[in-house]
Amino acid sequence: MDPRNNPYSPGAGVRPVELVGRDSEIEAFEIVRARAVAGRPAQSLLFYGLRGVGKTVLLNELYGRALESEWIVAKIEADLGTDRTPFRNQIAGALNQSLRQTQRRGVPGRFVERLLQTFRSFSLTASPDGSFSVGIDIDPALGRADTGSIVTDLSDLAIDLAQAAEEIGVGAAIFIDEMQHLSLEELGAICQASHEASQRNLPFYIVGTGLPNLPGLLAEAKSYSERLFHYSKIDRLNEVDSKTALLSPAKDEGVEWDAEAAQIVLTAASGYPYFIQQFGQTTWNEATGSPIGSLDAISGVRVGWELLDAGFFRARWERATPAQRNYLWAMSNDGDGPSSTGEIAARLGKKQASLGPIRAGLISKGLVFAPEHGLVAFTVPGMANFISRQALS
Ligand SMILES: Nc1ncnc2c1ncn2[C@@H]1O[C@H](COP(=O)(O)OP(=O)(O)OP(=O)(O)O)[C@@H](O)[C@H]1O
Ligand SMILES: [Mg+2]
Repeated sequence: MDPRNNPYSPGAGVRPVELVGRDSEIEAFEIVRARAVAGRPAQSLLFYGLRGVGKTVLLNELYGRALESEWIVAKIEADLGTDRTPFRNQIAGALNQSLRQTQRRGVPGRFVERLLQTFRSFSLTASPDGSFSVGIDIDPALGRADTGSIVTDLSDLAIDLAQAAEEIGVGAAIFIDEMQHLSLEELGAICQASHEASQRNLPFYIVGTGLPNLPGLLAEAKSYSERLFHYSKIDRLNEVDSKTALLSPAKDEGVEWDAEAAQIVLTAASGYPYFIQQFGQTTWNEATGSPIGSLDAISGVRVGWELLDAGFFRARWERATPAQRNYLWAMSNDGDGPSSTGEIAARLGKKQASLGPIRAGLISKGLVFAPEHGLVAFTVPGMANFISRQALS
């Protein structure tokens, strides 16, 4: 069928036609939203899960809802690597637009004015040339959010954001994708800022998403972090939701799936949103018309795996060094895992301690995570099978 009308959307953070199976996460945010403006305390929200389960899409949905309510918001994707943009610069850049809007809401009250001053000093500390405070014409608040230490300055900023938000009857939130890329100091700064705001019962929240190692990193950054955040695991879709995710975009285009064809795709996708979109897309392109039949599904799934191998999996595989690939290969014996680190060392004929840096490198590249002490698992669903396919070809 015509790819021009193809309703499936494999990709990073691409909103699906039908955002299914995330009602409880959306409701958790709606509760925060309502409690914030009612002056009732609420915990910040953190969502963690494997690659391709729909974390970014969910974060964007919640961000959209906060924008609709005219909250003071910033959205960033934490950066990894040596030439990464500093966290302070990301926050300053992302808040700028929201604050320019806040400024336009009429004569600023006392707290809004103070927030703008604090933001000026926070952003001038990030970039003395004033590039982050373009459009905010106010003198910086001397001695506030300008120490250069992210821990101190983020707390100052969070308190002032929240007091200004309260003054205008909204909340303030920072949305952070790929939060596991932040340093322990930055995560600690987030914890401290949230802690100080919540102790004062002020409406400042973090809505963060990350890989499954995120809760552990936060606990390492601050031992009290589990009391600050409400954690939810973003998982595969259940059978009913997977089916809706596959059938309903086609239905909107007047196209049906026969039951057997749908089953072939759903079995191959095993509930992973990215795979549903990928196999949905390739099967649609293979099919000649409605209803989509099982032969279409068989070739759609085959072509889908080829595309995943060439993109989704290969991109990750190529990020690993040869030594790291050996480690991944040893892990792949356990399927989707987890694997015991001792067992991996035995398979590789190496001492466990000598593999520590390799494992740490894989974790920092976001390819594996440690679900528990002594265990490692792939962050990418289906990676083990991909590695076996490489070994065979
Ligand atoms: N609830 C959902 N229903 C159907 N499809 C979804 C859903 N959530 C996400 N998708 C689809 O799944 C794919 C992956 O989504 P997204 O990029 O949000 O995942 P992610 O968890 O952020 O992945 P990564 O860890 O790689 O950043 C996209 O193609 C998106 O359209
Ligand atoms: Mg994402």
